Amino acid sequence: MYMTIKKAILLPTIMITLIVTSVIAQNPLMIPDTLTGNSISLTLQNGTHQFYSGQNTTTMGANGSVLGPTLLLNQGDFVSFSVNNQLADSTTIHWHGLHVAPENDGGPHTVIPPSAIWNPSFTILDKAATYWYHPHLHSKTNLHVSKGIAGMLLVRDSDEAAILLPRKYGIDDFPLIIQTKDFDGAYEIVVPSNSDDVVMVNATLDPELHTPAQVVRFRLLNGSSQRVFNLGLGNGQQFYQIASDGGLLAAPIALTRLLIAPGERAEILIDFTGMNGQTIFLKSFASEFPNGIYGATIPGMAAMLTLTGYDPNPLNGSDYDVLQFTIEPATSSPVTSIPASLVTVTPIPEANANITRTLTFTPVTMGPGQLNDGFLINSAPFDMAVINETIPLNNTEIWELTNQSGISHPFHIHDVQFYILDRDGSTPPANEQGRKDVVLVKPQETVRFIAKFEDFSNDTVPYMYHCHMLVHEDGGMMGQFVVFDSTVTEIETNISSHEISVFPNPSNSEITIQLDVNEPIRLELVNLLGEKVLSYESVPSNGQLTLTSLPEGVLFLSITTAEGNRTTKKVIVR
Ligand code: C2O
Ligand code: CU
Ligand code: CU
Repeated sequence: MYMTIKKAILLPTIMITLIVTSVIAQNPLMIPDTLTGNSISLTLQNGTHQFYSGQNTTTMGANGSVLGPTLLLNQGDFVSFSVNNQLADSTTIHWHGLHVAPENDGGPHTVIPPSAIWNPSFTILDKAATYWYHPHLHSKTNLHVSKGIAGMLLVRDSDEAAILLPRKYGIDDFPLIIQTKDFDGAYEIVVPSNSDDVVMVNATLDPELHTPAQVVRFRLLNGSSQRVFNLGLGNGQQFYQIASDGGLLAAPIALTRLLIAPGERAEILIDFTGMNGQTIFLKSFASEFPNGIYGATIPGMAAMLTLTGYDPNPLNGSDYDVLQFTIEPATSSPVTSIPASLVTVTPIPEANANITRTLTFTPVTMGPGQLNDGFLINSAPFDMAVINETIPLNNTEIWELTNQSGISHPFHIHDVQFYILDRDGSTPPANEQGRKDVVLVKPQETVRFIAKFEDFSNDTVPYMYHCHMLVHEDGGMMGQFVVFDSTVTEIETNISSHEISVFPNPSNSEITIQLDVNEPIRLELVNLLGEKVLSYESVPSNGQLTLTSLPEGVLFLSITTAEGNRTTKKVIVR
C-alpha cells in the first residue's frame, strides 16, 4: 500500500510499520465463488472486510462482505433472479453488457428499496464473453460500487465451447476485477475521491496467484471508478486478447500492452508453458500514457487543467504492479497452444444505418478547473424525467461521439453491443474490432459506432448511456433513451374467450375492468419491479370492477378467470 505523506503523518508509528510490512507480503488472490443455474439469488449487504490484515473497513457486497459471486450462465438459459436489498439504502443492480428488456436492465429507474426483493427474469441472449453486474442508482453508483458491490457474469455458448480454450474456473480460467480505491486514516473507503492510490484485484491488496505452467485465461474487468490501466507483463512477454466486452474476437490478437478503461472487459491468454518456478508481474505501465487520461502524470490534455486531490499519488504516470503470478507445474491435460482463430465476427455494415446521432461531451465550466466541475452530453445534465433519445425498435444507428473536453471518457451504452466504425476516421485497432459496450474517447477525438436496437421496447422505462467514470456519471454525464414499438399498445397472452376491457387507459389513478361474464376472477397488478401492487379475488358485480388509488407508472394487470383463462394488460397510470 502507498499512502500520501499527508495521510501517513496522521497515523501512529505502529500503523506505519504494519503498512510497510504489507508492501512486502503477498496475499493470495481471492477467487469469488460461483453461482449457476436457472435461479440466482443475490443478497446485497453491508459488511466489513479486512483489506489490511487486522483493520476493518466498512464495505458493501453481494452474498458476502465485498464484491459478489461470479455468475456462470449459458446462452439460451432462462434465468430467474432474486435480488434482496439488505442495505440501508435504495439501490439497483444492472447487468452490464447484457441485452435484456429495459425493465430487467436494473438502471436508475428500477429502484430496489431497502428490504425489498427485485425479481427480474430473462433469457440470456448474449454471446460468450465476460460481463458484470453492479449498482446503478442515480448519483450513488460510485458509492455503492466503490464500497464493494460488483461481480462478474460469464456467459458461455456453443461457439466458445467448440474452441480449445482454458475454461476451468479458478484453475486455468481466472476472473480479475482490477480496482483502485482511496482509504482514509481509519481504513475507510473514501467516495468520491481523486486520490485512489491503492490497487487491488478481486478485493485483494498485493495479490499473488499460483498459476499453472500452461496457457491460462484471464477475464479482466476494470471496475475502478475512474482510473484507466495500461496492462502488460513485467518480463515483456506477449499475451493474446481473445475477447472484447461482448464477445470473442475473430482471432487472438498478440499484444504487449492493453489499455482498459472503467467498465471495459477483455479476455486474454498468457502462455506460461515451460515457466514453472518463475515469478512474473501483471503491471500497469501508466508512465506510457499521454496527457488527458485519468492515470497519466497529467490527467488533462494540458497541464493547466488540474484535478483536485489527484496529486501526489504514486500510481499517476508510473509503472506499478497489479498482480504477481507464481508459476507452478502444469495441470493434467493442460491447454498448451493459442488457437489460430476464434469465431466469425460479423460487424453491422455502415450502409445499414437508418440515422446518425451526434453526442458531444463538454465540460460544465471552461476554466483550468474544468476537470472538477462535471461534464455534459449534448449540453444537458442527466435528468431522470427527461428522455434524451427515442429510438424506434429495430433501428440500426450510428452514434458519433465527439469529446470536446480535456479528459478521456469511457462511453457506455445499455441494451446493445456495438461495433466501432472509426476513431477520427481511421479503422480501430484489431482488438477493438469486436463487440463492445464501452469505448474510451480521448480529448478532441471523434469515435463512431454502429448498433442495432432490437428485441426489446418499452414506452416508459428507458435505457442509459453514460460515461463509465463513476464520478462523471453520478455528476450527470448520462442520458437515457427509450426504444419504442409504436404498433403495440398492450400486451396480451393466452387471450381468453371472454371479452375483457380495461378503461380508461392511460388512467388517472382509477381503472374499471369490465368482463362479459359474472364469475369469480383473480387479478393481480404488478409494477415494473415485479412487486405486487394489488391482488383481488372475488365475483365482481355485473362483471364490473373498479380499482382506485393506483400508483403512478406502468402496471401490468393480469386477470385469471374461473376457467383458468388469463390475460395481461398494460395499464398506464399518470
Ligand atoms: Cu456498467 Cu450503465 O453501467
Ligand atoms: Cu451497462
Ligand atoms: Cu467521463
